[in-house]
Amino acid sequence: MKLPDRIHLANLPTRIEKLERISKQLGGPDIYIKRDDQTGTEVSGNKIRKLEFSIKEALDQGCDTLITCGGPQSNHCRATVAAAARLGLGCILLLREDDSAPQGNLLLDRLLGAEVRMVTADDFESRRDVIMAGMLEELSVQGHKGYMIPLGASNGIGSFGYFACMHEIAEQEKQLGFQFDRIVLAVGSGGTFAGLYFANRLMNRSTVVTGINVSGDAAYFQNAIHGILKESFTYTGETIECQPADFEIIDGYVGRGYALNQPEELRFIAELAALEGLILDPVYTGKAFRGMAQEIRKGRFVTDERVLFIHTGGLYGAFPKNDEFGQALGWKC
Ligand SMILES: Cc1ncc(COP(=O)(O)O)c(C=O)c1O
Repeated sequence: MKLPDRIHLANLPTRIEKLERISKQLGGPDIYIKRDDQTGTEVSGNKIRKLEFSIKEALDQGCDTLITCGGPQSNHCRATVAAAARLGLGCILLLREDDSAPQGNLLLDRLLGAEVRMVTADDFESRRDVIMAGMLEELSVQGHKGYMIPLGASNGIGSFGYFACMHEIAEQEKQLGFQFDRIVLAVGSGGTFAGLYFANRLMNRSTVVTGINVSGDAAYFQNAIHGILKESFTYTGETIECQPADFEIIDGYVGRGYALNQPEELRFIAELAALEGLILDPVYTGKAFRGMAQEIRKGRFVTDERVLFIHTGGLYGAFPKNDEFGQALGWKC
């Protein structure tokens, strides 16, 4: 099958490492981690894999400005503006309003030259696509051509980033000499899961792809992933038979809500950091890895499985939570 064309922006392939100590501590499967947090510095994380396909489509359509949206600490927005700057494209970010200081991803957005437009949370939830469509018109009046990337680049074209990643994993498995029984990842808008699942099925692999949602609920994401896959099929002509209920999404680890944390989540991140020299982020990978660890403790995954956790990045989102980490961990200064 021929994939849509892409440009190359990410440092690939990302490494796969074994997490010896946490595997032993949990007493369950051998846990490995794929370091997609190391796809780059400015472009780090999972989004750049998707953007390699989305931005190629934008360039092929003759667009000169990328428009996208997210929360003020969106990793996706930061990766998009970094990629735009690298390619000499303009970038407008529609961000959900927040009165916090520009730090973490928002600081980087501004340094990288994004035109940042904040809207209220209500407008963001109900009208973001309309607002972005208005930006396209505005650009056109100014003689520019915009390309709109949806939340998290989670659409048909973006999902090929993780379709290609599944092939990358299969190549790495040849070197390792085994196939992973399970791949576990955080689900925030569904595109990463959709791409991995599509390729996994087309390659007739027995690996189970398991998502852990960090917002909404399992049913919401099962439907969202189904929608993304249907859009992906239009690019390749290849389809797979699937229903929303086929997607394994483990619910129960959203905690206080999207991008909000409980002290125990932050303490888990600190414990793992000290144990393995590995920093997870508080919004996505911290919640997902903690969820995986709790499921292992409950005996959900078979002990002799080999599990690959995808570290989808998000480190910059930890910095605005400095005070929260301090409170959770009892730091005096
Ligand atoms: C660091 C990080 N991990 C995981 C995700 C979830 O990926 P997806 O939106 O493709 O579900 C995101 C974005 O939403 C992210 O920024």
